[in-house]
Parts: sequence; C-alpha cells; structure tokens
Amino acid sequence: MRSVKSSLKGWKTAEMRLAVLIVIVLEALGVVESAWSQEPAQPRLDEEIAKQEKIYRSRGADVPSGYVTSRGLSDYAELLPSGFCDALGSLGSSDRWLDVGAGDGQAVLDYCALEDDAAPAGKCTRLSGRAHAVAMSIEDRRTDKWQEQAASLGDDRIRYLSGKRLRDYSREELGTFQIITDVYGGFSYTENLSQFVEKVLSLLEIDRVFYTMVQNVHLEDGKDKPSTRYQTELVDAAGRDVKVCSWLKKTTCVKVDCESKSDWDTPTELIKIRKVCSDVSVPRMKLLKYEAGNPPGRRFQLEP
Ligand SMILES: C[S@@+](CC[C@H](N)C(=O)[O-])C[C@H]1O[C@@H](n2cnc3c(N)ncnc32)[C@H](O)[C@@H]1O
Repeated sequence: MRSVKSSLKGWKTAEMRLAVLIVIVLEALGVVESAWSQEPAQPRLDEEIAKQEKIYRSRGADVPSGYVTSRGLSDYAELLPSGFCDALGSLGSSDRWLDVGAGDGQAVLDYCALEDDAAPAGKCTRLSGRAHAVAMSIEDRRTDKWQEQAASLGDDRIRYLSGKRLRDYSREELGTFQIITDVYGGFSYTENLSQFVEKVLSLLEIDRVFYTMVQNVHLEDGKDKPSTRYQTELVDAAGRDVKVCSWLKKTTCVKVDCESKSDWDTPTELIKIRKVCSDVSVPRMKLLKYEAGNPPGRRFQLEP
C-alpha cells in the first residue's frame, strides 16, 4: 500500500489533502474499504460466473462429463456421513426432506420407489419412503421418469423446484424440514458459502441434521496428500489455511461432525450439522476467487 506521505504529494490544496487524509484514516480504521485491498477482479469474476451458468444450462452432449446430475439414493448413502440412511428411514408421513442441488432428482425418486419392489439395490434400501420430499435445482433437469412418478404420487408427496437458487426462496415459501441433504449441490457450487449454510440452517427444524460433503478441501484429520489440488479453500484474515470443519464449528447453535476421507481419489469431508438451537450465526467469509467448473474452484477469506 502507498504511504500516507506519497498519497498526499500530488494534492494541491489543503482541503484536498485533508480529504485524502480522512479517507486514509477511515480505511485504516476499517470504516471504509481500501481501494488497494485484495478484492477479486470484478470482470474476471463475472466471466467465471457466466461460464458456470453455461454449465447449469448445458443439455445433452454439451453437459460436461464431470457435471453429474443423476446420482441415486445408494450414491447418497456412500457420499453422505454415516447415519444419513437411518435418519431418512426414521421420517414419518408428516416429515419433510429437502435435497438442495438435486440434479435429476434421482435420489428422491429412489426414496419413493422404496415402497414398491422397484427399489434399487444398495445401501439405504431397508426403509420405506414415507416423508414428503422436495428436490431443488437451479436448472430444471426433470426426466420423463420424474414426471410419471410425480403424476402418480401427487405434487404434495414429491416436489421439484427450479429456476432460482436456495437463497432466492423465503422460509415462508419453502417451510421447514426434518432432514436436508446436499451432494455436490449448493455447498460445493455457491459463491457465498456462509450465506448458503445459514439459509439451510434457517430451514432446518431444531435437533435435525443437514448432511453434506465437499471434495478437495483441507481435511479435519490433516491426512490430505500434499499433492492435492484444492478446490474449496478457506483462509483467515492473515491468509493462513483454515479447514472447512474448523470454520463450521465456529457457527453458533450447531453441532458439527466431520468424517475425513483421505483415501478417496479426491480428499473429501463428509459433514453432519445438527441444529441445536435457533440462534444460528455462521462466521462470514468473502469470496476471493471463483473459477467455473464441476465443481468450481473457490477461495474464501474469513472476515475478522
Ligand atoms: C452436479 S449437480 C448434482 C446433482 C445431484 N445431487 C447428484 O449428485 O447427482 C449440482 C446441482 O446443484 C444445483 N445447485 C448448485 N448451486 C445451487 C444453489 N445455490 N441452490 C440450489 N441448487 C443449486 C444445480 O442446479 C444442480 O442441480
């Protein structure tokens, strides 16, 4: 950053010097943001977000191979923390499940099929699908299978919401849920992770759990390989690495459990967040970098 003295040199009148001096003092106090601070270059960020939108909108052969939207319930059982299947299985007919970032909604379809013999083999099959399920996706990826199933079960039992992001829905519109899941969904794709988690938790009933996961991160158990190409990075105000679980554990009114998968192809953290009281506040972070992808590369900085 330039020194105060050199900043003042070019200014001719005493009033102008005074104005510059006031701005510098306010910046130093953190009252206004520094023009020289390390903000993401806006045009580049906009470009990356536009590229990401293209991925969401892609259809048929244009869908990038890494953008998988058809994982079923048995994949969810593999990719979400232990306890997920039991929690889903314990839901009753008045309970509600929200899957944020549902893609085709295959996991929800599998859950409903559990009541008949078409249930797929694999984990999470010894339960009956009784609860109401809401599948949410930015883009509409409903298949013919979804349309048929929805027509036979009724809109009340399974719903597919698309056209906007989680943050764009109000609590009144969505209601509250007994279980919320996210498999390579908003948690892996959002540009505002703090806001995303806070929104999810605002929709969760007390003593219920949000199950999610994120790949290529600094693992809680510290066993990620040094050669890892990190996709979601968190740093503190001084630029030091922060683990995603350490950050989440600073949230109020939650109990966070992480299962580190260092032996998977990509180091992955399976995350279970139980809401224990209503006054949830997630420590804020600002976005430093966003690179479109499946999932995107992101770097966030914790706000002091
Ligand atoms: C890679 S697909 C994963 C789909 C599915 N979970 C699966 O594993 O097959 C990502 C999904 O997340 C959705 N998504 C990403 N960010 C989101 C957000 N902020 N709110 C709602 N959906 C989001 C996308 O629209 C898409 O449906």
